[in-house]
Amino acid sequence: MRPAASDREADVILLNTCAIREKASQKVFARLGVLRPLKIRRPDLVVGVCGCVAQLEQREIFRRAPHVDFVMGPRNVSSLSTLVNEARNKRHQLAVFDPRDSLIPELPVAALRTPRTRAYVTIMEGCNKGCTFCVVPATRGREACRSPESILSEAGRAAGEGFPEIELLGQNVNAYRSGAWDFTRLLGADSLTPGLKRLRFTTSHPLHFKNSIADLMAARPVICRYLHLPVQSGSNAVLSRMRRGYTIEEYLSKIAYARSRVPGLALSTDIIVGFPGETQGEFERTLDLIREPRFDLIYSFVYSRRPGTPAAGMADDVLAEVKSDRLHRLQEIQAGIQAGINAGYVGRVEEVLVEGPSAMDPGVLASRTNTGKIVNFTGPSEWTGRLLEVRILNATANSMRGEARDAAASLTSLRHRDIYEESLSLEGGSAP
Ligand code: 5AD
Ligand code: SF4
Repeated sequence: MRPAASDREADVILLNTCAIREKASQKVFARLGVLRPLKIRRPDLVVGVCGCVAQLEQREIFRRAPHVDFVMGPRNVSSLSTLVNEARNKRHQLAVFDPRDSLIPELPVAALRTPRTRAYVTIMEGCNKGCTFCVVPATRGREACRSPESILSEAGRAAGEGFPEIELLGQNVNAYRSGAWDFTRLLGADSLTPGLKRLRFTTSHPLHFKNSIADLMAARPVICRYLHLPVQSGSNAVLSRMRRGYTIEEYLSKIAYARSRVPGLALSTDIIVGFPGETQGEFERTLDLIREPRFDLIYSFVYSRRPGTPAAGMADDVLAEVKSDRLHRLQEIQAGIQAGINAGYVGRVEEVLVEGPSAMDPGVLASRTNTGKIVNFTGPSEWTGRLLEVRILNATANSMRGEARDAAASLTSLRHRDIYEESLSLEGGSAP
């Protein structure tokens, strides 16, 4: 199969769905409504609904959207090709939600990726934590870890195919365990992958974030100086109602240690405002928190009640306007902090990995610093996948503009370090 340019040209349309907040969930049905006339015109078209909304709603999806051919839970990705084939051959609806079918498939690395320079390698699925607001344990199930052999072989293949960067993925990567392997050991082994230029991982849970991970980041320059550590709230009372298992003091001491070991470490976090019972005072603790460690990036959300979660039984008593006011205040303060942090990059020379021509302007390349900052600069698309030095010219809260310092010199030095290879052999990029 190849990606189609539009819905109209597609033979198979898959919706990969997210249930984390109500809005994401609602979008699925809106989108299915838009697809309905297409399916009526072309009954051969296969429409599949995959992911967490499928898992939660199951056959209810057929009732609300009878033109759907199959629904499939997130633990059944390895059944996808079978389902598509069956849906094309037989004309009855199919549903797969088998928790036993939970083996994380080994993906062909050259499958289409965005950006084409980063290979995502799933190391574990599911979550055993049970934060009271979160639907993930219900949709993704209990933690299941892939074997280190399988992870390391996929990482090796990715680097061998020319992916300069790998990101290890899991709901809670530091809970990784397989026999005698924990996450630190796995990250250490992955960091030795021949040919790899950058290694990232997400998401870490503060409760499991061990000093040994920061020590390893300090010792292995291939591991990017970037840590996403969701805190959720700055109030200990709210953290306790969320059942997060740590206090703010414990959280702060973990990031203080990580920063002391990894100079220049970029930190990002997730925050929910308007959790049930969140008082003005509790919200202000969150504002205090974000002023102090100065996060490079915050993903912030208004609390959304999810059916079946423990918090769904608590009164969702913060008014919608209050929730959105709080979100707005938080984002305003954070924008100032981010602009300040990024302004500190201006004038510096940074090593960036070129991710490809920017979506907005093909003459401009989008790239990232080791710390994950987006830097745009002018250059040819052939530089995609290369590490180059750029001088940062200006910065806003969300991105930076730079210029290749001396492209010829950068390329020579890269060749010297034996990493100037024709890195992306993925022209056409079709999945096997
Ligand atoms: N409402 C709002 N935000 C949520 N998140 C998870 N569940 C909810 C919810 N019910 C946020 C958390 C999490 C991120 C992925 O999504 O901040 O870290
Ligand atoms: Fe959800 Fe993350 Fe908590 Fe697991 S650790 S329940 S995925 S918020």
